[in-house]
Amino acid sequence: MLDLLPRPVVIAHRGASTHAPENTLSAFQLAIEQDADALEFDVQLSSDKSVVVIHDHTLDRTTNGSGRVKDKNLDVIQSLNAGHAYGPAFSNEKIPTLDEIFDKFRKSTFYIIELKNTVTPFDDLPNRIALIIKNSGLLDRVLISSFNPVALYKLERLLPDVKKGLLLHSPLSVELSSHVSVFPFSYQSVHLSFYALNARRIKSFQSKGKLVFSYTLNHPRDIQTALSIGIDGFFTGDPALARRTLGKYYNKH
Ligand code: G3P
Ligand code: CA
Repeated sequence: MLDLLPRPVVIAHRGASTHAPENTLSAFQLAIEQDADALEFDVQLSSDKSVVVIHDHTLDRTTNGSGRVKDKNLDVIQSLNAGHAYGPAFSNEKIPTLDEIFDKFRKSTFYIIELKNTVTPFDDLPNRIALIIKNSGLLDRVLISSFNPVALYKLERLLPDVKKGLLLHSPLSVELSSHVSVFPFSYQSVHLSFYALNARRIKSFQSKGKLVFSYTLNHPRDIQTALSIGIDGFFTGDPALARRTLGKYYNKH
């Protein structure tokens, strides 16, 4: 399924997070309405080992709660308001679980799931994720990404057929990985910070059979730059803006 996605792949970053509270069901619903090809979101474990969808390791920025995600159980996490900063229209927004996202969107999209267990790199997140994906019947619609190579290695052993994407932030890590593959697991894509992107690095990864995606492109100028140097897809908080930008770009080229 990853190979069948249109190019460039428009990936909704934390959902349509420019227009709705990030990593919520409303943001994902809006992303699909805005014609995103895939949904990106971040997952972590609660204290009772539920897989919850939230970017930060603490609850403070995106909810009316506070404290670390890993110290709170699911009931507490889901009692919080995850849309309060966006006003009354989103006042019922909760932090979703991975199961809830799969149940709601099923085969209507493709899922790029980022394992955010960098502060707890050896936790049970890979085991929990592998189980949920197995039970969901959506294996072919999932790509797992992480800055934590331990998590990707574990995933490979638990679920050998799951697609994986390597997240690389610094120019040095991008440059190194474009020359040598030092990781003991397979991966089908690399996800590069926009600031570490250049045409040579993109070609180098593509010549090794990897798809190259870039984050996070919310400005038409950045999207045009990435397209002009051969990107395969990009993460954006505004899929509608991305579609308009692609339309104009391909009219000219
Ligand atoms: O997956 C790309 C991007 O989401 C990685 O950075 O901090 O937005 O999770 P961050
Ligand atoms: Ca992310």
